[in-house]
Amino acid sequence: MKALILSGGHGTRLRPITHSQQKQLIPIANKPVLFYAIEDVIEAGAEEIGIIVGPNKDQVMETVESREWDAKIEFIVQGEPAGLAHTILISEDFLGDDDFIMYLGDNVIKGGILKHSIKFRESGPDSLVLLTEVEDPQRFGVADLDETGRVKRLVEKPKVPPSNYALVGIYFFKPSIIEACKSIKPSWRNELEITDAIQWLLDCGHRVEASIVDGWWKDTGKAEDILEANRLILDEMKPKNEGVLKGSRVFGRAVIGKGSVIDNSEIKGPCILGEGCKIVDSYIGPYTSINDNCTIEGTEIEDSVIMEGCSISNAGRIMESLIGKNVNISENGRRPSGHRFITGDSSEIML
Ligand code: DAU
Repeated sequence: MKALILSGGHGTRLRPITHSQQKQLIPIANKPVLFYAIEDVIEAGAEEIGIIVGPNKDQVMETVESREWDAKIEFIVQGEPAGLAHTILISEDFLGDDDFIMYLGDNVIKGGILKHSIKFRESGPDSLVLLTEVEDPQRFGVADLDETGRVKRLVEKPKVPPSNYALVGIYFFKPSIIEACKSIKPSWRNELEITDAIQWLLDCGHRVEASIVDGWWKDTGKAEDILEANRLILDEMKPKNEGVLKGSRVFGRAVIGKGSVIDNSEIKGPCILGEGCKIVDSYIGPYTSINDNCTIEGTEIEDSVIMEGCSISNAGRIMESLIGKNVNISENGRRPSGHRFITGDSSEIML
């Protein structure tokens, strides 16, 4: 079995972070979102993985290659994000005649996809789609199921959803999907939609089955989703302290990386601190991920994702925040007093 993982697209809903960073590389509990997808497909039996790369392709390739993987990885360049079905068309040579998993690289799912992979192999449909019940189906592709749970119809972001079953961005396919992708036309948003290609399979009498996701699932398309995925992953993390504590206390499940020094501070898990961090006179509270080489002084941080190389000092209390790489936040400390900003386009600041 092969796998196609999508790591292209512009990630506009995550600006300004995605001005400089591909969205699938945003860390959740200090690990790029994309790595969760790679680990899941390997666990599900994929031996060859094609990763679709787009706007920041070098960044994605470099990050993926910074680690050893138990599978052969190939990168497939997509010029413009012309739709999920388009990524299958440009991967035709890579996919050949094999069954494959398609996994959107910004999705995270509890417990991986092994059991769905087994179901696909045992049942042998042309496609097995993963579904989950959501409160806002209008935001997703939605499945209409018959009494036996078979898929009758699929619609992309419908105004009037036929059910609450959203398509999770994880699909299993037989090679028949390639012909389906060749047979459809672009949608109103000018994309070749994977939902239309699967609908084509249904219309041609092919078997499409559903597998319901029972744990949590997150599409990390927006900042709130990243923070929520971060909470969910941290909730399951085992504690490990490889850092140095000086006059500090650690409560609950905290992971502290090598070379990190916690001085006169309080750490309350679940949280993770990367390597080489300096935490001085501060409080790091639950559901916080602080990436490598950050310095935090005189500040309280809770329920936030702080990317690598940040320096934050005397910044009061920071909560529910997503902070990009190498950001400096400090007290103004001079007259006239007041907030001073140098922010990127599309930043969001709440005071
Ligand atoms: O997250 C689940 C939803 O994902 C499904 O319910 C929908 O049926 C499915 O169409 C998809 O909807 P989104 O609007 O969330 O898709 P998005 O455009 O955000 O793209 C999903 C991922 O695929 C994202 O990581 C970027 C990548 N991508 C997207 C396109 C359109 C590519 O690599 N190339 C592309 O051409």
